[in-house]
Amino acid sequence: MTIHQLINERVQAALAAAGAPDAPAVVQPASKPEFGDYQANGVMGAAKALKTNPRALAEKVVAALDLAGIADKVEIAGPGFINIHLAPEYLSRRSEAALKDDKLGIAPVKPLRVMVEYSSPNLAKEMHVGHLRSSIIGDALARVMEYVGHDVVRANHVGDWGTQFGMLVAYLVETSHAGDADLQLSDLETFYRNAKIRFDESEDFANTARDYVVKLQGGDEEVLKLWRQFVDVSLKHCEEVYEKLNVGLKREHVRGESSYNDDLPIIVQELREKGLLTEDDGAQVVFLDEFRTQEDKPMGVIVQKKDGGFIYTTTDIGAVRYRHRELKLDRVIYVVDARQSQHFAQMFSICRKAGFAPEGMKLEHVGFGVMMGDDGKPFKTRSGGTVKLIELLHEAEERAYALVSEKNPDLSDEQKREIANAVGIGAVKYADLSKNRMSDYIFNWDTMLAFEGNTAPYLQYAYTRVQSVFRKAEDYDANAKIVITEPAEKQLAAALAQFEDTLNAVVEGCYPHYLSQYLYHIATLFSRFYEACPILKSEGEVRASRLQLAALTAKTLRTGLDLLGIKVLESM
Ligand code: ARG
Repeated sequence: MTIHQLINERVQAALAAAGAPDAPAVVQPASKPEFGDYQANGVMGAAKALKTNPRALAEKVVAALDLAGIADKVEIAGPGFINIHLAPEYLSRRSEAALKDDKLGIAPVKPLRVMVEYSSPNLAKEMHVGHLRSSIIGDALARVMEYVGHDVVRANHVGDWGTQFGMLVAYLVETSHAGDADLQLSDLETFYRNAKIRFDESEDFANTARDYVVKLQGGDEEVLKLWRQFVDVSLKHCEEVYEKLNVGLKREHVRGESSYNDDLPIIVQELREKGLLTEDDGAQVVFLDEFRTQEDKPMGVIVQKKDGGFIYTTTDIGAVRYRHRELKLDRVIYVVDARQSQHFAQMFSICRKAGFAPEGMKLEHVGFGVMMGDDGKPFKTRSGGTVKLIELLHEAEERAYALVSEKNPDLSDEQKREIANAVGIGAVKYADLSKNRMSDYIFNWDTMLAFEGNTAPYLQYAYTRVQSVFRKAEDYDANAKIVITEPAEKQLAAALAQFEDTLNAVVEGCYPHYLSQYLYHIATLFSRFYEACPILKSEGEVRASRLQLAALTAKTLRTGLDLLGIKVLESM
């Protein structure tokens, strides 16, 4: 059991013994050290429901509360708060167990089959900054879910289908004749732009493009081959970004929109058989009672256009159906821009009604806000264009390289490059992952690359500081006992014991910033501990014990940063 679950259970039992079995215990980490380590705030609510004096009820609860071996002091404060002070010996044993365990002592969960769908760019163009948030938030969630023991399926639902691809294939044929297709494809952005110019200027070209769309949809092998060639090049661009970003998406995780193409007519047919379809102005529409138009009428969601074509929603319905039938998932998480929330809510609703997603399969849209420039507007280049993701990442490395060279001019160029990669990319990722994903945030190089404050460089540096202690401590004994006497030791150990609760919270709400905040808290407590409790200057058991706390701090920081997809360094 996690420390939070354990205390919650004990307080719950005490509430029951005191005559309030239905009241929630409301246990949470204490807001200030004076209040101990945990607070139980449920007594006030319970007293209100029972129409009794809260202080008196709190006394009964405390009398019935069995925290033997866990807490060494339990106090009542204010109108009926219960403050719980953990016993140092209990924290020592927990810390020792966490150090010995590969997974820092976290208990195995009942494994669920969880899909995390993320990144999912459209392949017609190169990845731009708009794909950053999904790629890094999704990757962090996949890592944490996997770490706690779930059976994670990563999915990259790329946009690889639709009319644009006719145009791109037509242009590919044209440039291949001219013999410079490879060269042209090395810059997809320009390739797309040139294709569009040809499409707009030449009626012949436009007709060929339309013809290719029909052939693609009809499964024409020749055209499919060209289309695959284009998709392959585009995916290579994405993989270059994933590699640089340290995001774990590989070719095997790609299952694009095209793969549901053959299912789309079947989907529409099944929706019709279930009586969910209405023909509206030639289009096939599902009307949903629970979504209302401005005139307070049921909202209609198109699944097939008047011309017979299918749309984004139809493909997503196809993907849900596939994910249930073929993959038997328990939980599907869509890490997609919050602006698509209505699309997902409606699409999920259609899938439930049609029986494509049984109740037991949870469908969640994990949205996120906008990344903005210093001007508070969506992030753009100076001239107002979209910023290519790979270029942004190169800039991050260059800026970190300059910082490292200034701080540490004597390092070899290779070392500087390695640090620049970890720090530059880490800074970009952490700036995002440290904020509530639902809020918009301002992308600012100086803040994210600062060595002070809640940043990746600060945490990476904190980690190297801990590691440097071990380079000077040749007597480190990995089996030494932990003995907690000082307040700074106790606070650090109590926070380290919350690792599992933190991960569980990330898994439950899909909020990576809980983990970032936690790691920052640990780094801050470590530096207080480091100042208040000399490690290398102390001796004997005290020294051995403090080294153990330092070792657990390092292990927690390293694991936590790795779960966020951020690299650590041994020195920097
Ligand atoms: N390709 C889409 C875009 O770039 C995002 C896809 C999100 N996933 C989904 N299942 N609809 O906007």
